[in-house]
Amino acid sequence: MTLHDLYTGERTYRRYLQKEISHDTLLAVMENVRLTHCAGNMQKLTFAVVTDPALRDQMAQQVHFAAYLPKEIGQPKPGEEAMAYVVIIKPKDKYPLGDIDAGIAAEVITSSAWEQGVGSCIMLNFNAAKVNELLQIPDDSTARIVIAMGYPAHTSTVVEMNEAHDVKYYVDDEVNYYVPKRALEDLVQWK
Ligand SMILES: Cc1cc2nc3c(=O)[nH]c(=O)nc-3n(C[C@H](O)[C@H](O)[C@H](O)COP(=O)(O)O)c2cc1C
Repeated sequence: MTLHDLYTGERTYRRYLQKEISHDTLLAVMENVRLTHCAGNMQKLTFAVVTDPALRDQMAQQVHFAAYLPKEIGQPKPGEEAMAYVVIIKPKDKYPLGDIDAGIAAEVITSSAWEQGVGSCIMLNFNAAKVNELLQIPDDSTARIVIAMGYPAHTSTVVEMNEAHDVKYYVDDEVNYYVPKRALEDLVQWK
């Protein structure tokens, strides 16, 4: 798979097959994030990988999918829920570049997962206090990003943006996603 193929397919997936993700697969993902760039090589982020079914069920209550869609369409139904969650944990102390490090880590995690056919949804819309409690994250740190994961139960296709420049993704009757992306000439100034 070329990187272009990878980034074309590596969309956000929000409904998942109920097939376990093997420990080896998750280990390969986390090994890549271990090697990732970070500001000053400080390596202050830590990660929780949740695969325990009971904890997974509790995590599912704390995350909110697809803000552009009605809840009954965007939120995975029972039997479509994530099979793993990777939680990026950030220290609360002075760490101004922590969010940038967390964003880079999230992309490495999602692309590494997709390389193995595992779909992801990067999430900031979650109850951090509850997730901190569930995962027993120490008081000096907090869950900053949650990544829901699983083998996709839907497709997601990049489409050209319409003339109204509407950024909202949408779904068809089978809840397959369509994701408008801006044209390159609208993004890049060649100097
Ligand atoms: C920082 C960040 C936060 C996001 N938070 C959520 C979220 O809380 N819930 C959700 O369903 N999707 C979330 N997403 C996924 C975006 O909605 C998705 O990336 C966007 O619609 C583009 O779709 P694509 O990932 O397929 O390109 C988030 C993505 C990023 C990068």
